Amino acid sequence: MCGIAGYVGPRNAVDVVFDQLKRLEYRGYDSAGLAYVDEGRLHVLKKAGKLTGLGSLLAESKPSAHTAIAHSRWATHGGPTDLNAHPHHDQDAQISVIHNGIIENYLELKSDLVSRGHTFHSETDTEVAAHVIGEEYRDGVELVEAVRRAVAKLRGAFAFVVVSSAEPGTIVCARNASPLIVGFGEGESMVASDIPALLPYTRRVAILENDMVAKVTVDAIKFYSLEGKPIEPKPFDVDWDAVAAEKGGFEHFMIKEVHEQPEVVHQCLAGRVEGDHVKLDGLFSDHVWHEIDRINIIACGTAYHAGLMGKWMFERMLQLPVDVFYSSEFRYGEPLLSPRSLAIFVSQSGETADSLAALRLCKARRIRTLGVVNVVGSSIARDCDRVLYTQAGPEISVASTKAYTAQVLVLLLLVLHIAQVREMPGVRVPEIVQDLRGFAESMRQSLDLEPQVKALAERFKDSKMVFFLGRNADAHVALEAALKLKEIAYIPTQECPAGELKHGPLALVEPGVLAVFGATDPDTQDKLLSNMKEVQARGGTVVAVTTNEASAWADEMDTVLRVASCETKALAALSTIVPLQLLAYHLANLRGCEIDQPRNLAKSVTVE
Ligand code: M6R
Repeated sequence: MCGIAGYVGPRNAVDVVFDQLKRLEYRGYDSAGLAYVDEGRLHVLKKAGKLTGLGSLLAESKPSAHTAIAHSRWATHGGPTDLNAHPHHDQDAQISVIHNGIIENYLELKSDLVSRGHTFHSETDTEVAAHVIGEEYRDGVELVEAVRRAVAKLRGAFAFVVVSSAEPGTIVCARNASPLIVGFGEGESMVASDIPALLPYTRRVAILENDMVAKVTVDAIKFYSLEGKPIEPKPFDVDWDAVAAEKGGFEHFMIKEVHEQPEVVHQCLAGRVEGDHVKLDGLFSDHVWHEIDRINIIACGTAYHAGLMGKWMFERMLQLPVDVFYSSEFRYGEPLLSPRSLAIFVSQSGETADSLAALRLCKARRIRTLGVVNVVGSSIARDCDRVLYTQAGPEISVASTKAYTAQVLVLLLLVLHIAQVREMPGVRVPEIVQDLRGFAESMRQSLDLEPQVKALAERFKDSKMVFFLGRNADAHVALEAALKLKEIAYIPTQECPAGELKHGPLALVEPGVLAVFGATDPDTQDKLLSNMKEVQARGGTVVAVTTNEASAWADEMDTVLRVASCETKALAALSTIVPLQLLAYHLANLRGCEIDQPRNLAKSVTVE
């Protein structure tokens, strides 16, 4: 999620890495910094805020060096401040580290290091990793070896880039899950989190795979396994232009973000599931969870749809009453609020004006507030009493995709947390945690449906109206699928619980109408089949999105899209959002729509 750059070679490395960071600016960030090695000394410059802040520091000091690393941060642990900005150093300030990802076991490592006299200057997990690497970097051990040994002690997703004052001309990197790419230049070498940063300098690149360490010097880039065995890098030439490269080779940010969802699941769960239970840090103390008598979830658009899934999960699993409000309605609706209630604000940007206004109202009424927010340090995150970050990384496309998945997952984690605190015997936390662990793979399987979805989009690209229907959790996913389609393909939609069809919307069904049914819930399949038949009898075409295990009736439908089966119903329903996002995307693309910036819409709506 963060931007990473590194360079070793004859040019001024500081200028190169700053330029590389600028080329990663499209990802969004909240602070930036760099480290360079000059005359056997490490120098660090860093600043919260936009890159211009770091640019001003560079303009004042005009540094020059032949080895440098740089980082633009998308905060996860600790707010966006100068101190939390990367790079971070070890106890002896001999090495500088930049990092993308989340170290899950940083708290236990930190308390061990503190007990042995280490001091820390930031709230980040990265600084802990720097100290762990620093501890291994002694007694003549090479930096690459120290990083290799340290990585074995770290749990989580990461890409590290490290330099040392004792080894000028060397950059060491390590990767597990977070992306890292090395570039082979003419008499120069470099590293970055994303290909666009490298393109002005070289088109010859290689991907550092999971569980690999690399030693990057001016004339060689060597890869090693975590056991220290040399591995032959597999360089290839990038033929994308710079714009395509920003999108990772995808045509639009939206489709890139849809494809990021398995990774987002990992990021969102990182450090939050341990063994067979859930561990959420920084929440209210346990007695508060016993005291709460009602939850109000307040949000707009996609986040509101995630809130509806939240209600469904909270009420079923915790028997806790939940209302879900559009922020704009809540604000002026004179809501009745129990003093023992909790207001949960769900927001990707954390800056949505309607939600902020609703938050102010709750604060004025002294209601407890919790943010479920993606952008660290945003207004909603700052103003709520507590915050759970969705950790989905920057979302650039106006149409929200990966943020929705992460919002639903965080709400599920919260349900499990409360179930643990309240010792609810009916909630099978270990089984659900097991399903959560397999969920990234389920999302990957959902992405495999893309060729089928594309064919469907070809067939229905001239649709005048598309229905999205379902029952239970599938009905909530249907609302989100419909929003995606209207938003980017400008096709009118009709979305409602499938049982409501016969109470009115059925009048709109005629030959040529496409009706997409979410059908993952085994308990309502018979009723759903009747609703499908109602559509078919009036000439409509039925597409069922169901699970691998769903019964044979699904074969009677015009098209069946099968997602992975899952015992946890909310997760089975959630995995259907992927083919539905893909359907919206491919229909919009075939209709020549402006996908990432649809007409009349903005990513963050900062007016009421
Ligand atoms: O940043 P927020 O999550 O608070 O934004 C809420 C809505 O504006 C947002 O979800 C909007 O509906 C998206 N464009 C949907 O794709």
